[in-house]
Amino acid sequence: MGQFFSALLILSIAFPTGSIAQKAGDEALGTQTYDSFEKPAACASCHVDIYQQWTQAIMSQAYTHHWDEIEYFELAVPHAEKDPMVAGVKAGCNGCHAPLSFLAGDVPPPRPEEGSRANESVSCDLCHVIKSFEGEEPFNFNYVVDPGRKKYGPKPGVESPHHDTELNEFMTTAEYCGTCHNEMSPYGVWVKSTQLEWKEGPYAKQGVPCHHCHMPKAPGRSAKMAEEGLVAQHLFHGAHDPGKLAGAVEMRMHPAEREVDVRDPVVINVQLHNAKVGHKIPSGSVEDRIMWLHVIATDSDGKQYHLPVDRKGFDGEEYTIAADVLAYQDMGVPLDDTAFKGVQRDGVPIGDRIFRMPYFDPQGRMTIMQWNTKSLGVDYRIGPRETKVETFTWELPDDIALGRVTFKAELNYQRLVQPVADFLEVPVDETEIVRINTASTWIEIYD
Ligand code: HEC
Ligand code: HEC
Ligand code: HEC
Ligand code: HEC
Ligand code: HEC
Repeated sequence: MGQFFSALLILSIAFPTGSIAQKAGDEALGTQTYDSFEKPAACASCHVDIYQQWTQAIMSQAYTHHWDEIEYFELAVPHAEKDPMVAGVKAGCNGCHAPLSFLAGDVPPPRPEEGSRANESVSCDLCHVIKSFEGEEPFNFNYVVDPGRKKYGPKPGVESPHHDTELNEFMTTAEYCGTCHNEMSPYGVWVKSTQLEWKEGPYAKQGVPCHHCHMPKAPGRSAKMAEEGLVAQHLFHGAHDPGKLAGAVEMRMHPAEREVDVRDPVVINVQLHNAKVGHKIPSGSVEDRIMWLHVIATDSDGKQYHLPVDRKGFDGEEYTIAADVLAYQDMGVPLDDTAFKGVQRDGVPIGDRIFRMPYFDPQGRMTIMQWNTKSLGVDYRIGPRETKVETFTWELPDDIALGRVTFKAELNYQRLVQPVADFLEVPVDETEIVRINTASTWIEIYD
């Protein structure tokens, strides 16, 4: 992992973004006006289904969604005003979350309640005037826009009464998505790397871009008056969709021995196979996300026992096993509380295995402020088509009932660690616990 990230870092330093011809990334701030872009409502009358799909996708709420508002206005903006190192994020967050405001130079944009055009978030006309990207790797909104009458699309020679169309192969590539789905912190650390993870994995090699899984094609009409054909569905379903998460990782478990002497330890193995995800899980906002494995044994009297995972002994493993420790102290800086002690790091049962990659602030403390990330910890996420095995060794308690003991494993996912959500008063739906999968097995114990 370290090699992969540092190699990319060198590449991006060697080929800086920005050029004479086109302004992209930070340089594009204030190079357009709001009026350069049409409103989504202007597309709705003809692109009926696509419009309705988009309004249900988080893409259309990238600026208005309450957790985004909290993080931007309560943490990022005050932090940018205090710490020159991160000053750029005051504008930069908007390059991906409120691109029209960024391009119009309107930063910070008006609050969502003011109903400005920032609320259009990642809109139809923004995505359909992206022509290319600048630089070696797509990241930090280094897309190049060419707003106007011409809309870029995936098909050649289609005609519209409202606009011109032009085939743009770039739209059908993962790099297109990578312009917003890869992010580098002001400290030069990859804090979002969905497209880079994809590129390293099996799906890139087999020519399966993001679109196959997040914009699948189905028969229909792309516009009211268009011919029937295969149409890219604008679903953008990801971690906000329990159905997308369901079964993303497949799980089985088995005991090392089915019949166990009550004096012997029990050994259980759990296999976790990432069957469905084209990148690592979790991906994207990895600093916020938590995915954990919880195993419970039930004896023949119905008494329950929680089993902590066995240690494997790798560097940084302490971040991958739930513990009673504090973290996220750097939130004290934007919140004007220099003595801030932090909040609980995990908020899940102690001893459970956590699949994550910790982000560290310049003082080496774990952070959810991805823009304040100076280094990354161990990458213990599950890669595309990777299988991890976790072992649980259990010394049976003296008073356990003889006979059958059943084991249940649950793999859970939460978009934001609970203690951070409680502290910042983030709406409860953001911390809904989603069950990714379950598995079970049993043993018989005798004396
Ligand atoms: C995040 C960027 C993004 C947003 C937002 C977006 N699109 Fe698209 N759209 C795409 C991409 C990428 C494709 C091509 C997908 C493919 O072919 O795999 C596409 C395809 C299309 C197509 C052609 C569909 C087909 O298969 O024939 C139409 C029409 C379209 N979009 C209209 C819209 C409208 C209208 C909206 C807003 C309601 C919108 N798009 C929002 C990225 C976007
Ligand atoms: C202009 C920037 C931009 C582009 C281009 C873009 N996205 Fe996004 N996308 C975002 C932002 C911002 C969010 C997060 C919204 C939020 O949670 O606030 C997002 C969210 C998503 C989600 C939902 C994730 C979740 O947690 O539920 C998926 C899936 C997704 N994008 C896929 C794609 C794909 C596939 C493409 C390329 C066809 C693409 N995006 C292109 C900015 C972009
Ligand atoms: C008056 C109706 C109408 C309006 C309004 C309209 N479109 Fe279209 N658009 C069409 C038709 C018709 C097509 C051709 C569809 C076909 O033949 O597959 C089309 C095609 C497209 C394509 C090309 C898709 C491809 O297959 O390559 C894109 C992209 C697109 N529209 C985006 C937009 C956006 C963005 C808006 C709003 C700013 C918009 N359209 C507004 C009617 C309209
Ligand atoms: C083989 C199918 C597949 C491909 C290819 C794929 N994804 Fe995903 N993606 C998924 C599934 C399944 C999930 C839900 C599990 C999860 O959240 O990680 C997901 C989740 C996401 C999320 C939310 C991640 C999180 O944990 O918050 C984003 C953002 C996303 N995808 C973007 C992309 C982008 C961008 C690409 C291309 C570079 C891409 N995906 C390629 C299947 C795919
Ligand atoms: C390079 C593009 C990019 C930049 C810059 C960016 N974001 Fe994001 N942001 C995204 C994408 C894409 C996602 C969705 C990732 C996922 O679903 O896992 C996201 C997700 C989020 C989320 C989580 C939303 C959720 O529902 O879980 C928050 C909050 C957020 N961003 C706030 C910010 C703030 C504040 C900044 C500036 C400090 C910022 N972002 C900068 C692209 C960006």
